[in-house]
Amino acid sequence: MKAAIMGYGTIGSGVYEVLDKNCKSVEKKAGEPIEVKYILDLRKFPGSPVEKLVIHDVEQIVNDPEIGIVVETMGGIKPAYEFVKRCLLAGKHVVTSNKALVAAHGTELIRIAAEKNISFLFEASVGGGIPIIRPLVESLGGEEILEISGILNGTTNYILTKMSEEGWSFEEALKRAQELGYAECNPEADIEGYDTCRKIAILTAVATGKEVNYEEIPTQGITKITSMDSSYAAHMGAAIKLFGTSVNKDGKIYLEVAPVLVDAKDPLYAVTDVFNGILVVGNMLGASMFYGSGAGKLPTASAVVGDMISAVRFGDEPEKIGWSSEKLEVHPAAELSR
Ligand code: HSE
Repeated sequence: MKAAIMGYGTIGSGVYEVLDKNCKSVEKKAGEPIEVKYILDLRKFPGSPVEKLVIHDVEQIVNDPEIGIVVETMGGIKPAYEFVKRCLLAGKHVVTSNKALVAAHGTELIRIAAEKNISFLFEASVGGGIPIIRPLVESLGGEEILEISGILNGTTNYILTKMSEEGWSFEEALKRAQELGYAECNPEADIEGYDTCRKIAILTAVATGKEVNYEEIPTQGITKITSMDSSYAAHMGAAIKLFGTSVNKDGKIYLEVAPVLVDAKDPLYAVTDVFNGILVVGNMLGASMFYGSGAGKLPTASAVVGDMISAVRFGDEPEKIGWSSEKLEVHPAAELSR
């Protein structure tokens, strides 16, 4: 199957690299080779092996019947939303790592894909390379999910770890996270908690099968955390982590994003640097932890390629991953402690 990659930044170039390095096993698992025909980007990449694939107009992808699958790694809503919608309406599978897009327009894009009998998959939008969306829908399908909570943003976890363990300043740690390709183009989304908010909204929507308006989730980031706070936490044998929390109590869903003090005995205490750790509690299973690289080029690209394989393999009988247009009533998690 011929593919197009829209957005050749950190993740998009990672997708090309994973497809190239693992081409034999990808072909075996997908049942056919996946070949990148186009790369849509504003830049030209002179001298690079992908130079000849670069195009600047999405119409070329939309109108090319040879293109069966499109990867969206542009990030942000504009123009990603319009481009993805056009590709789905043209009957092309779409795989994205874009949590802003999935949180804001997931309901509509999931519906269009279902109507067209094609895949719209977004495993890479939460937890970087950690499998979490498909396990919630499939392996944990027999559970009533009681809680999803933990560290969903690699950049802020990296910053908090470096402040606490290495004594770095906030600015120093953020700059390094940007250099390492963890942070969003506008790191405000990371440090103000908006990225975690979108991710906990997506996980909650997948777990409940209902649309979650992420703007209703009380959200606080880490910009007010000082080095002094980090050292006090360390003296207490604890650490500060930015948590996304979603609790199902008596059928009501309580949500929030906020920095929390995590005790050394808590399994999430050991989740440091860019790693993410997501605790899922089911009513039959009890607690289960998902841990791994929560951001970065190759881990996130690996999750994208996993979805590409799935889309190609399942063809016109796509996996049912998503939620309905029924709206979830969001309750602030603060109400839980009252
Ligand atoms: N900026 C995000 C993070 C990228 O740091 O977690 C992965 O979603």
